[in-house]
Amino acid sequence: MDVDALIKPFTGKTGGVISALRAVMRDAGQIDSAAQRIVANCFNLSLAEVRGIISFYDDFRTSPTAARAIKVCQAEACQARGCRELTTGLEDALGIRLGESSPDNTTALETVYCLGYCHAGPNVMVGDTVYTDVSAEDLDDLIETADTKTPADVFPRREDQQQLIFNRCGQADPLDLDAYRADGGFNTLTHSSTGILSDIKQSGLRGRGGAGFPAHIKWQTVADQDSEEKYIVCNADEGDAGTFADRMIMEGDPYLLIEGMLLAGQAVGAGKGYIYLRSEYPRAAVTLSEAIERARTEGLLSEFDLEVFIGAGSYICGEETALLESLEGKRGIVRAKPPLPAIAGLHGKPTLVHNVITLCTVPWIIRNGGEAYSRIGVGASTGTMPFQLSGNVRHGGLIEVPFGMTIRQLLEDFGGGTASGRPVKAVQIGGPLGAYLPPALFDTPLTYEALADIGAGIGHGGIIVFDDTVDLAEQARYAFTFCEHESCGKCTPCRIGSVRGGELIDEIRDQGAEPERITLLHDLCETMRDASLCQMGGMTPIPVESALKHFPRDFGLEET
Ligand SMILES: Cc1cc2nc3c(=O)[nH]c(=O)nc-3n(C[C@H](O)[C@H](O)[C@H](O)COP(=O)(O)O)c2cc1C
Ligand code: SF4
Ligand code: FES
Repeated sequence: MDVDALIKPFTGKTGGVISALRAVMRDAGQIDSAAQRIVANCFNLSLAEVRGIISFYDDFRTSPTAARAIKVCQAEACQARGCRELTTGLEDALGIRLGESSPDNTTALETVYCLGYCHAGPNVMVGDTVYTDVSAEDLDDLIETADTKTPADVFPRREDQQQLIFNRCGQADPLDLDAYRADGGFNTLTHSSTGILSDIKQSGLRGRGGAGFPAHIKWQTVADQDSEEKYIVCNADEGDAGTFADRMIMEGDPYLLIEGMLLAGQAVGAGKGYIYLRSEYPRAAVTLSEAIERARTEGLLSEFDLEVFIGAGSYICGEETALLESLEGKRGIVRAKPPLPAIAGLHGKPTLVHNVITLCTVPWIIRNGGEAYSRIGVGASTGTMPFQLSGNVRHGGLIEVPFGMTIRQLLEDFGGGTASGRPVKAVQIGGPLGAYLPPALFDTPLTYEALADIGAGIGHGGIIVFDDTVDLAEQARYAFTFCEHESCGKCTPCRIGSVRGGELIDEIRDQGAEPERITLLHDLCETMRDASLCQMGGMTPIPVESALKHFPRDFGLEET
């Protein structure tokens, strides 16, 4: 391997060192000390810095990786579909535990958190291929063949939806630029900066990445900055278990995202955009890159250029400041705010960071007017939301409907009950940092406000269904395990709290839910909620405390 030649194309590029390390990994299956030294030299970094970056990201290794790594999704939607049993079956069949390689290093069994096919789990990735609905009996197929079991994307009862974003997805050739234009695509580019800003404000659009923050405030802030250099960064890290909307739109209608980013660039005066894409989405990477190339060839990117940057396996890099660090080629350590990215973001310049779906909503708003958008939905939850139904549900998939439908309507009308035929015991809404809710709360309308009233959040729109075999104490344990694995480590409440919280739940499950233990658990959750630097530590208490509140029997407590 000629490491110099391999990494040369990435020197001088934003985040180039991570792309270079990825190239070495792809080529050699490891980044050994000789390669580390060459990378350090080439990027003018110390060896310690390069090693620091390597150790932060799950995708990078410093010793030889197995010829074939079987990555088994361990996240919630796959848990609801039996990934724990699948893992045990694979461990028995291969004679190795999760996290180990076979003695001859031909096969490794690895953990991955969400592959974006949550409606069809349990899921496994081998190479760039996702295998869905896998059982341990499929092991030979996984090892021997390259056949894909990856299913087509699903839109249950499409005709009952109001698709402002996903109307072309799955219907049109994603890369046919002429067809996109014939459907009105890119006809918005003549709009003025002030016109776009005014429509975004009128629309009431809120960010779909999780926090639901009003988009226009960020747009206006970036637009108001006096800087020659500004950026649009699309957050395509989609790490929440049970979510796959970003993947589907990027694979199914990539020009929509490009048009949304172009409009954002025009409105705030940015000339460059990056799409930070998680490495678990190789198909999206290919489609997006090809779409960008075709748009560039057609002259659409003459004033605003776009690049896809591929992450390296880290949930916390979905948090916007950790993402910016990563995009700058560093460990994904969360930044303290202020300054906000809108004022000092990528390379210290004003940066508009938005989720894929937020940006994909923009073309509809500009085509139809902010006022028209604001009339859809309920109150301050304007527009539509692509809800993603997964886990133990008969008809999983993506459903784009206006805010306001109840959880029950979505589960029963679209989902058709559980896949197992057993009663629903709980849903988790909003990803791994989201609340577990019991059927008694299923008449809650899906709006930001109504969910906040019951201590929950919409997050990125993932709804994971669990039948009555789920143990919510085990799910609470998982919330801490996940936080421990994904914490960036910057602050104590999250770094240490997640470890102690996991130990405490183990004690409660093994030795009993004594009042002191439960009080300690609440205290720990309060400390994490109030004293964590970002919402990774701040929101991990939500799944834990909602499980404890709504399902006390699973912890060995009486119902109150
Ligand atoms: C731990 C953590 C993980 C996050 N992961 C994502 C993610 O995968 N995708 C995303 O769009 N936003 C994610 N966010 C939210 C981002 O920090 C940020 O709010 C968002 O990208 C802004 O875009 P929006 O305004 O369109 O929502 C995450 C936040 C936290 C605290
Ligand atoms: S809460 Fe966790 S992820 Fe966030 S800054 Fe602190 S240690 Fe990092
Ligand atoms: S693919 Fe397993 S939770 Fe998403």
